[in-house]
Amino acid sequence: MARRKRLLKLILGILIGIFTSHLFTSTKLATFDMCYSRERKHITPVQLIREEDARASNKNLLFVGVMTAAKYLDSRAKAVYDTWGREVPGKVMFYSSEFSYSEHVPLVPLDGVDDGYPPQKKSFMMLKHMHDHYVDQYEWFLRADDDVYIRPDRLEDLLRSVDSKKPWFIGQTGRGNSEEFGLLSLETDENFCMGGPGVIFSRETLKRIAPHVEDCLEHLYTTHEDVELGRCVRRFAGISCTWSYEMQVILYHNQSGENAFTGDLKQKEVHRAITMHPVKQPQYMYRLHRYVKGLKIQNDQQESILLHRDIALSMQELGYRVSRLDFAELVKGLPLFPIHRGADGYLGDTNVLDKS
Ligand SMILES: *[C@@H]1O[C@H](CO)[C@@H](O)[C@H](O)[C@H]1NC(C)=O
Repeated sequence: MARRKRLLKLILGILIGIFTSHLFTSTKLATFDMCYSRERKHITPVQLIREEDARASNKNLLFVGVMTAAKYLDSRAKAVYDTWGREVPGKVMFYSSEFSYSEHVPLVPLDGVDDGYPPQKKSFMMLKHMHDHYVDQYEWFLRADDDVYIRPDRLEDLLRSVDSKKPWFIGQTGRGNSEEFGLLSLETDENFCMGGPGVIFSRETLKRIAPHVEDCLEHLYTTHEDVELGRCVRRFAGISCTWSYEMQVILYHNQSGENAFTGDLKQKEVHRAITMHPVKQPQYMYRLHRYVKGLKIQNDQQESILLHRDIALSMQELGYRVSRLDFAELVKGLPLFPIHRGADGYLGDTNVLDKS
């Protein structure tokens, strides 16, 4: 009997833990966007952990290098940093030409690099800088453009499912279209990762190519930055772009150029993607971010309902009537809801508990 009670206590403890941390997450999200002020009714002001501490556990997963240019620092780069850039499970850094300066974003002006197109030197020197300064601190390295939107939480899930000790070069595979193909100096079995929607390197891959960056820059065959990157990775890391059909879905590139992501966002492509490209104008970056946050809130609300049902069911097992849950105690002296209904910081969701 005592064992059974202990077990139930444990299960309840876990449930309440999940439930509490979940509410905390919603708090952060809800304050993000005033549009969702309806959500604020049942959020708790109890600050269980500071945001920084909550993120401490995943601070070393990913380093994102965003390639930008002096003229985009106050527009595109700032929009990236104001939106998904802040949520990266690790660090985000912007890379621009030699004399760039920004008050808004963390920036590395690359010596001897200009903002000319194609940005081959910028790209290779950025990778070298990432390697020389951060290779031992992070497991994964992402080369991003300043017009890509990324969902860091989903990217984190993806990266945690892959063994970062192996050499990886992950992206959406390109081989050029049929007219181009011959001009790219690729063999029939060779490919590259298309730059736009983001290219991911494991630490091992970065270690293998960084010492040869100058060599790669001296042996360019085309004016395509991503094709040359692929060539360099193949030569010195011995791998090609990870091919998977799924990559077209999760690294989503929309063909409509300037107009991409300016229209209706309620599309399955948007809902499924981890990265979205291209978002050319900053106002659409903020808009997309808000939309994605809205999706997350809906998800969290669903999750919250399920957790509340679990709590109600567990308490019924313990012999409580749902209508008396407000006064339930997990053990003597330890109430299920330490703060009473109606008071600030009440952890229950009145609507859900009343209905169950
Ligand atoms: C992507 O492009 C197509 C046409 O090229 C367009 O109809 C669609 O709305 C675009 N999707 C987004 C999310 O912008």
